[in-house]
Amino acid sequence: MRVLGIETSCDETGVAVFDSDKGLIADAIYSQAEMHSRFGGVVPELASRDHIRKTLPLIGEVLALANLETKDLDAVAYTSGPGLVGALMVGATIGRTFAWARGLPAIAVHHMEGHLLAPLLSETKPSLPFVALLVSGGHTQLVRVDAIGRYTLMGESLDDAAGEAFDKTAKLLGLGYPGGPALAALAESGQPGRFTFPKPMTDRPGLDFSFSGLKTAAMTTIRSIENLTESDRADIASAFEEAVVETLTIKCTRALAEAKLSELVIAGGVAANQRLRQRLEESVEHVFYAPPSLCTDNGAMIAFAGHERLRAGFSEPLVIRTQARWSMEDLPEVNIFPNH
Ligand code: KG4
Ligand code: ZN
Repeated sequence: MRVLGIETSCDETGVAVFDSDKGLIADAIYSQAEMHSRFGGVVPELASRDHIRKTLPLIGEVLALANLETKDLDAVAYTSGPGLVGALMVGATIGRTFAWARGLPAIAVHHMEGHLLAPLLSETKPSLPFVALLVSGGHTQLVRVDAIGRYTLMGESLDDAAGEAFDKTAKLLGLGYPGGPALAALAESGQPGRFTFPKPMTDRPGLDFSFSGLKTAAMTTIRSIENLTESDRADIASAFEEAVVETLTIKCTRALAEAKLSELVIAGGVAANQRLRQRLEESVEHVFYAPPSLCTDNGAMIAFAGHERLRAGFSEPLVIRTQARWSMEDLPEVNIFPNH
């Protein structure tokens, strides 16, 4: 089965084709980051309009890359939530209509399930059950995974998501949007230990997170320094990254102990962070993640998650459905675990 995957939930148009036998055969992404950067964040209406401009040409590009024609596709998967509703509508409308026009089955994919399953596209895969840390621009969640679609939320952020905290702190440091990768790059030249930021909610039991205070700590430090130099900024970036990484590591270790499991999957944009990967490698027995390009938003994870649901017999009725808010715990369970 060859599945076309379409992702348009935020500021990236992603299109890919996943083949049951050959795996991922084509994957292309168009990022709107530059367009949004002068506003310091995503402008939803601009995002929707740009997805309208980019999705169809990108589908054409991906089919050409894979040397395929539309008749070679067997099904269509598209992100139907959570995300910006206008942006989601573009991918859902194009995906569902494309499938209808060609008489193909379609599947509405949960964006976070897409992130969660992306590490299964790597050579070394986790085995069930495992704990997943989902860290993106909109979510910070610890989830127990007993099967695809059998998810138990163990903890989540009570305020800002980890990626959001990276983006907001990066903005305070005068870095562009999206701030996460820029802040991580700046932190590399920082002197660790010059500043120490709090590790929110690690001194009490539980698996919830709170990151909004960290941004305030960064702001207070920035304001306390007269004539902020490049090396001051790097030191602050390093302290911020250290606090987030350490907090996430403490909570992941705690979640694994609580669940009595040894395998951890990290997914979502912040899982691309090298310091987080390194720290978890040191503290956790088995850590699994996707290559950085499949951690941030992409069409491949949607094609793959859709493929797993389609081959288990799920498909969408003739409705264009989007859900700005959608809990992963509401997804139906899939009884097959990928072995390709
Ligand atoms: O998963 P994603 O691409 O989009 C959402 O579903 O939100 O995650 C984007 C988030 C942004 O906040 C971005 O700053 C952050 O992931 N991010 C990073 C890194 N790469 C992306 N944060 C820290 N370090 C990185 N290397
Ligand atoms: Zn995402």
